[in-house]
Amino acid sequence: MSARILDGKSLAADIRREIADDAAKLHAATGLAPGLGVVLVGDHPASRSYVTAKEKACAAAGIRSRELTLPAHASRQDILAAVRDLNQDATCDGILVQLPLPDAASEREVIEAIDPAKDVDGFHPVNVGKLVLGLPTFVPCTPQGIVELLRRAAIPLAGAHVVVIGRSSIVGRPLSILLSQKGVDATVTLCHTRTPDVARFTQQADIVIVAAGRPNTLRAEMIRPGAVVVDVGVNRVPDSTRATGYRLVGDVDFEPVAAKAAAITPVPGGVGPLTIAMLLRNTVEAARRQRHPPA
Ligand code: GUN
Repeated sequence: MSARILDGKSLAADIRREIADDAAKLHAATGLAPGLGVVLVGDHPASRSYVTAKEKACAAAGIRSRELTLPAHASRQDILAAVRDLNQDATCDGILVQLPLPDAASEREVIEAIDPAKDVDGFHPVNVGKLVLGLPTFVPCTPQGIVELLRRAAIPLAGAHVVVIGRSSIVGRPLSILLSQKGVDATVTLCHTRTPDVARFTQQADIVIVAAGRPNTLRAEMIRPGAVVVDVGVNRVPDSTRATGYRLVGDVDFEPVAAKAAAITPVPGGVGPLTIAMLLRNTVEAARRQRHPPA
């Protein structure tokens, strides 16, 4: 068997066209394009490139972006001041603080300073709480993108046994909540670094989603033939044949797993483009809610 490749890039292009239409309608109705405020602290190369990709996608969809860039040594107070600036900026409907921050200890406080109505990443505790309760909220972009990708690829989630590897606050944990929600209806097993014998679980899965941040976390012997595999990992590995000196690999041992799976997402070009599309969707939704608040 050779797996069907789930082409996130082309699915995301369809979604981005839909979002551009919504953004244009909102712009025409209110006289102001939806706007995203971005805080980038330090010069972490991967974070810089993610932020650039997000801003380019905004521009292509008719969404303005305003970036506040701070040096790596910026104090907690400087970062909080940047967030407050964007909270008060009526032209910024959504706010994103790119993670990780150089000082990981300040992340919680910074996220909690974001106005929950502008929290398009869905990381604020108020929005996380709403997600857990199944209330309308901003769903974090990568989990939302994964569910959207599986839906558009016509891979059934209702009744499926989904094994998620990784319990991060950005991906694994919110994903496990989203998948088990009414209307999505998957049965979820969440594995993590302290799970003994992860293969015991993945071998029973209809769908395996790997968000561990480590290459080769999922190997062919760990899945059953015909499973669907979603690779969320983005790891830079040294490669002297590339001009950049590195290449991107996911968390899955791609070739052997693809030979056994029914469908698999590539890295790059799988989940990543969907994450960006969901950020655009959340930003347009934030603009709509702030300009047309529910009565
Ligand atoms: N760092 C890695 N993924 C994300 C994301 O989805 N949002 C933000 N703000 N930072 C990230």
